[in-house]
Parts: sequence; structure tokens; C-alpha cells
Amino acid sequence: MVIKTITSLIFLLLFIALAAGARTKLKWSLEASDYADGICKLMVETQGYSCEEHKVTTKDGYILSIQRIPTGRSGGKTKGAKPPVLLQHGLMSNAITWLSNSPDESLGFILADNGFDVWLANVRGTNYSSGHTSLSPDDPEYWNWSWDERVAYDLPALFQYVYDQTGEKLHYVGHSLGTLMAFGAFSRKEVLNMVRSAALLSPIAYMGQMPSPLARAAADAFIAEDLYWLGLKEFAPGGGAASKLVDEVCSKIDCTNLESVITGPNCCMNSSKANLDHQQPTATKNMIHLAQMIRQGTIAMFDYGNEDDNNKHYGQPNPPEYNMTSIPNDLPLFLSYGGKDLLSDVKDVQTLIDTLSDHDPDKLVLLYRDDYAHLDFVYGVNAKQVVYNPLMAFFHLN
Ligand SMILES: *[C@@H]1O[C@H](CO)[C@@H](O)[C@H](O)[C@H]1NC(C)=O
Ligand SMILES: *[C@@H]1O[C@H](CO)[C@@H](O)[C@H](O)[C@H]1NC(C)=O
Ligand SMILES: *[C@@H]1O[C@H](CO)[C@@H](O)[C@H](O)[C@H]1NC(C)=O
Ligand SMILES: *[C@@H]1O[C@H](CO)[C@@H](O)[C@H](O)[C@H]1NC(C)=O
Repeated sequence: MVIKTITSLIFLLLFIALAAGARTKLKWSLEASDYADGICKLMVETQGYSCEEHKVTTKDGYILSIQRIPTGRSGGKTKGAKPPVLLQHGLMSNAITWLSNSPDESLGFILADNGFDVWLANVRGTNYSSGHTSLSPDDPEYWNWSWDERVAYDLPALFQYVYDQTGEKLHYVGHSLGTLMAFGAFSRKEVLNMVRSAALLSPIAYMGQMPSPLARAAADAFIAEDLYWLGLKEFAPGGGAASKLVDEVCSKIDCTNLESVITGPNCCMNSSKANLDHQQPTATKNMIHLAQMIRQGTIAMFDYGNEDDNNKHYGQPNPPEYNMTSIPNDLPLFLSYGGKDLLSDVKDVQTLIDTLSDHDPDKLVLLYRDDYAHLDFVYGVNAKQVVYNPLMAFFHLN
């Protein structure tokens, strides 16, 4: 049990550290003045779009930033209400994910230009959402969460905010961990009264069959254990401990093409853009949680590792599972997945699809791209043609 825990922990830490690569240290802890230059100023207004910065406070005190692009480049040529759509980025990422390519290639801008009211979420821990009502990111407690809390607090707060602002049910787009958050929330009947449909790109639910080269490499990395027991709560790419881990691991394996080692060989990204430079910190606990899922192949809440502690937290000896079968059969779902994706593996996606076998056939759209890997879904220069146009057609029908 202990060995297994340590192995998964190592895998997890390695996974993160590799994702971060040997990058320069990110300045994520923001001065108050930095917020004035948020994502709107940095990424949206520079492209000629109007943009609003909003703040949402979760029930457990995290202050999340959310950006709104209310109209397209051509301005307010609106006939009738614009359907709101909430875009939720993935692990160690932020809303910049949706804005990185040109306006004709990036989903955030494409949706705005096609008559949607676009809302871009940034979850707890990311550099534009590092506020809290009483904690600072320097407090270990600030990092005491996994994606369970994003399901229980972040997503409901974000949905409620956009719903209150617009008076309309939301379309949702998630990438990677942003899909797991949605599956978790929908299975617990959270936010269902506010959701119109959901498009899930590189869906992550079951992770038990994730291809293993990294896991093998991770088994060689013994130092991660120390990181945990030393009480490292935050996992920041390029941060001290992470850099050390990367140095050690990359002295043993070839890290020159990290991106494809981790995500799969992305076919269609613009090679002149180093997208992994956008890596954001996350909680070590979140990574441990993901490692548990990889190890166990289940979708359950964070496992405290023993019956006593699980009893204390959950009133039962094992962590409660998220039951994918309880996602309502009539919720319109669009799943797009890729044949080269090493994080959202085809076999794991098939397990998910099998679990959804009772879903109303006309409420479940599957779009498979043989050549796509994990990041092509957000950064692919042809993603508009192959994924976003069908995605918008799906939204228009629902
Ligand atoms: C972390 O959060 C859990 C509840 O999710 C709580 O039981 C525990 O005491 C917290 N630990 C710390 C160190 O704050
Ligand atoms: C790739 O990015 C560069 C720099 O931003 C840009 O000039 C070029 O047009 C992009 N290519 C494609 C195919 O999008
Ligand atoms: C926040 O992270 C993004 C990468 O996602 C980076 O481009 C930006 O400069 C960072 N902002 C600050 C103020 O650190
Ligand atoms: C999962 O949900 C389905 C549908 O609501 C239900 O029939 C099934 O018993 C649930 N499974 C578990 C393990 O709770």
C-alpha cells in the first residue's frame, strides 16, 4: 500500500515536473497592481475585442478571475440573446489556453465572432486566480485541495455567476481536467439546472489505461517521496523543488521533446509558439489525486490512504465514487478525442463511452480525430475546421 502510494506519487510529481519542463520560474504570485493587467489587457483587447474582467468568490473563499468577451470583432450586431458559453481550461493551464493562436484559430475568439457571449474561467491556484478571502498562496492551507474542490466549489460558483449575469443557461467547453471537473459535477447533479450542453475536448474521466512510458520513468525517480513528506503543498512549474526533480529526471531520460512525451505527438500546433510556457502551478494534492486515478482506474474522491481518515472525511472507509452513469441521459454532450493523445487515451475514452451507453443517442456526439494529440484540441491551427465548427453546430442544435 505504502509502496503503491509512493509509486503513484512519484509518477504524479514527475508528470507535473515534465509537463513544466526545465522552464524558467514563473512569477505567479501577484501584486495587487498586476490584476489591472489581467488577461483582458494581455490577450484580448490587443486583438481588437472588448473584454470585461470579473471576480467570483467560491464558498471556500477562493477568488477566481473570469473574463468575458461579450461581442465579436464586428461589434454588437446581435439578433436576439447571445448564448453564454463558459470555457474551462485544463491542468496547469489558465484561460490563455483559449486565446493563444490568432483570432481565427483560437476558440475564445471564434465563439465571440460567431455570436456567443464568451466567459473564460481561471481556477484556483492559477496566476490570475490566486486570491483568497483569508489565505495567501504562501500558506500551505491555500494548497489544500484537489479537483474535488474544483467540482464542489469552483465550477458551481462560476456557473452561478455567469447564470446570474446573463439570465441564461450555459453552454460549456472543457479541455482535459476541465472535462473531468464537468463529469464530476454533472454526476453529482451540480450545476445541471444551469447547463444547456457541454463540449468536452480530450475528455479525462477514466485514467487506468493511460500509456505507461512516463510511469516507467517515474518509477526510477525516487526523490519525489521527499517532496511530499517535506510538506510541499504547491507544485509550481520551475519552482525550486520541481526544478531539482526535473534536473534529476532529465539527466536519466531524454527530455528534449517533453511535450510529445507527455501529451502525445501533437500534429497541428504552430511550431513557432512554445505553448508549454504557459504552465501554471497546481496543488500537490491535486496531482496525488490524479495519480490515484491512474493507479486505480476509478473516478473517486481523494483517497486519504486509510480507513480512519476516509471515515473522518467521508463517513465511509473508501472515498465516494463519482458515478458517471448518473449523468442525466438527456444532457447534450459532445466528446472529441484524438488517436495520438497520451493523456486522454483512446481506451480510457472508450471506457467512458461504454459507461454512457444508456445516454440518449441524439444527445451524444462523438468526434474522433486520428491525428490529434492532447494539445491539438486547443492549439491546433486547423482546430476550427476539424473540431470547433462541429462544436458550434452542436451548440446551435442544443
Ligand atoms: C485540508 O482540508 C480538509 C478538508 O477537505 C481538512 O479536513 C483538513 O484539516 C485540511 N488540512 C489542512 C492542513 O488544512
Ligand atoms: C504561426 O505563428 C506565427 C507567429 O505568431 C504566425 O505568424 C503564423 O501565421 C502562424 N501560422 C499558422 C499556420 O497559424
Ligand atoms: C500568468 O501566466 C501566463 C501564462 O499562462 C503568462 O503569460 C502571464 O505573463 C502570467 N502573468 C503574470 C502576471 O504572471
Ligand atoms: C450509478 O448511477 C446509476 C444511475 O443513477 C445507478 O443505477 C447505479 O446504481 C449507481 N451506481 C452506484 C455504484 O452507485
